[in-house]
Amino acid sequence: MRKKIVVLSGAGISAESGIATFRDADGLWEGHDVMAVATPEGFEKDPELVLEFYNQRRKNGLQAKPNAGHLALAKLEQKYNVVIVTQNVDNLHERAGSTHVIHLHGELFKSRSTADPSLVYDMEGWELKLGDHCEKGSQLRPNIVWFGEAVPLMDTAVMEAALADIFIVVGTSLAVYPAAGLMDYVADEVPKYVVDPNPPPVRKRPNLQLIADKASAGLTRLAEELLAL
Ligand code: APR
Repeated sequence: MRKKIVVLSGAGISAESGIATFRDADGLWEGHDVMAVATPEGFEKDPELVLEFYNQRRKNGLQAKPNAGHLALAKLEQKYNVVIVTQNVDNLHERAGSTHVIHLHGELFKSRSTADPSLVYDMEGWELKLGDHCEKGSQLRPNIVWFGEAVPLMDTAVMEAALADIFIVVGTSLAVYPAAGLMDYVADEVPKYVVDPNPPPVRKRPNLQLIADKASAGLTRLAEELLAL
């Protein structure tokens, strides 16, 4: 049976594709207070601002292309069963060719009903406006997990992490829970790699290797090594 590689990715893997990370920006997120644009309260207070904020993110996302880091992870599927658990809402992993991606924090190119979270829709272009309704007539919102909201796919991610034969963390400051705790579910004997030019503080544990490099270079090298095993 193929070995399973589980990857936890964060904003840093998309940095070289031109998508800004979160914590490199002084608490501001593309010029906005995170709490104003990424919380249910922010949406209630000023839905137009929040919709417009995500419209801009979608416009940027459409221009971005997967980089060598995303491509290296996709290539690992030649030999491994690869599951990517990403905190990113962009679709660059999928566009690079990865076939099993779990979006812990939602997906930029999907909308969902404000009345019924199970009503989720693929978006055609970049724009979501006030007055865009679900099939039951309620306003649509971005299909993003905002601060203060539950992370429904966390249980699935934990199950995958517990079954990993190899675990890779890339481009995340590990500042946001529950995602940041995923490595705690990985068995001691499993090789663990952290790829980040400015690696986050990770508790010392067995079989941990830090690769202090950007995602493009670090993951390309790591994938070559793993494919050669
Ligand atoms: N390659 C790899 N890593 C990089 C690169 C790069 N080229 N450039 C920056 N990084 C690293 C930074 O060193 C940092 O450790 O990416 C990490 C980015 O951290 P954050 O900005 O905190 O992003 P992330 O961990 O994904 O944030 C988690 O917070 O705001 C929320 O919901 C949002 O999903 C997001 C969550």
